[in-house]
Amino acid sequence: MDKLDQAAEPGYGGGDEPQSQGNPNGLAGPAGSSPQPGPPSPQGVGLTSEAQGGQRPKPEDLTEGAKASAVADLGEDGAKASAVALGGTEGGPPKKKAPNGVSVMIVEGGNGPMTAAKASEAAPPPTLLAIESLSFYFGDNKVLKGVDMPVRANSITSLIGPSGCGKTTLLRCLNRMHDLYPNNRYEGRIVMEGRNILDKGEDLIGLRSRLGMVFQKPTPFPMSVYDNIAYGLKLKKITNKPLVRELVEKALRQANLWEEVKDRLKESALGLSGGQQQRLSIARSLAVGPAVLLFDEATSALDPISSAKVEEMMVELKKEVTMVVVTHNMQQAARISDYTALMWLGSLIEYGETIDIFTRPKQKMTEQYVAGNFG
Ligand SMILES: Nc1ncnc2c1ncn2[C@@H]1O[C@H](COP(=O)(O)OP(=O)(O)O)[C@@H](O)[C@H]1O
Ligand SMILES: [Mg+2]
Repeated sequence: MDKLDQAAEPGYGGGDEPQSQGNPNGLAGPAGSSPQPGPPSPQGVGLTSEAQGGQRPKPEDLTEGAKASAVADLGEDGAKASAVALGGTEGGPPKKKAPNGVSVMIVEGGNGPMTAAKASEAAPPPTLLAIESLSFYFGDNKVLKGVDMPVRANSITSLIGPSGCGKTTLLRCLNRMHDLYPNNRYEGRIVMEGRNILDKGEDLIGLRSRLGMVFQKPTPFPMSVYDNIAYGLKLKKITNKPLVRELVEKALRQANLWEEVKDRLKESALGLSGGQQQRLSIARSLAVGPAVLLFDEATSALDPISSAKVEEMMVELKKEVTMVVVTHNMQQAARISDYTALMWLGSLIEYGETIDIFTRPKQKMTEQYVAGNFG
């Protein structure tokens, strides 16, 4: 019996049906959760020893971040998780010193080497999400002001800018996360595959399984490593054990975590390190086959080594998934992203290829921001 077989055996929780969370909305209610779209609540999970022993989490056992993650990760019935091919490894990227002193790592990725010359010669990848004249209001407070930009397929797009400029708000528009809270309003359009995802009739559960969200704080569920990944599959009615095992391993490999946890699949995910928990949260999102992953400061709470592992994973993942990354770490944006957007007071100041934003920005404000003169 291999490791996955053991972990999937009844008794490890792997063979059980999900409890009442057949409807992931059951985990998602805004009741008792903060209306702030900031990072998930740092409060403790309030675990019982049974919960740590691998029982299904009750909604009250989950942090706000975990609840939100459940909402973001999991689709309802019907949809089949796409089996996602595994990404190859990129070679160690050389570094280039930008004139402003920011160290720009040239990333070899699915779109070809991001050198200044090549980037401008190559045709840009197709637009997966077209953000058109997007404004967003918290009540009467207009915090996004007519944002226009593409999110290009199989690329990493970074959103940078000073605190409070609207990065998180923009990211959360992309999977309609704001709809979990009352009194919010969108204007404009976000077009994905010919459809405006801001339309009233949009299936939000389906949308959030196609556009998964990764938060600053890891969101492991209080269950085994294996069950954390299998959880979303079960909600999607994927219960065929060999398929579940295959998808769990694939997701863990994609998240660059397999080698570290393959002997610990039935242990509680809460025993993993912070960096491993973050990659586990990413694997859980990946298991349900998203087209897009949205990262909100997802490495800012990690140590540099853990952070580097997540970055490495993201660069490999580009072949299969499109990513939008909110970061206040400009070096990170320069290292991993193909495209960068600078925001300021709810407006998009400049969007372009990362190499251009950091080495030859068009706007004075961009030049000053990337030089570290403000923010
Ligand atoms: N729930 C909320 N209600 C009202 N205003 C909010 C809420 N959340 C964020 N804001 C405001 O929206 C603006 C953008 O915030 P945010 O998107 O979190 O910025 P960033 O992620 O760039 O730091 C800020 O002025 C912030 O105070
Ligand atoms: Mg933010």
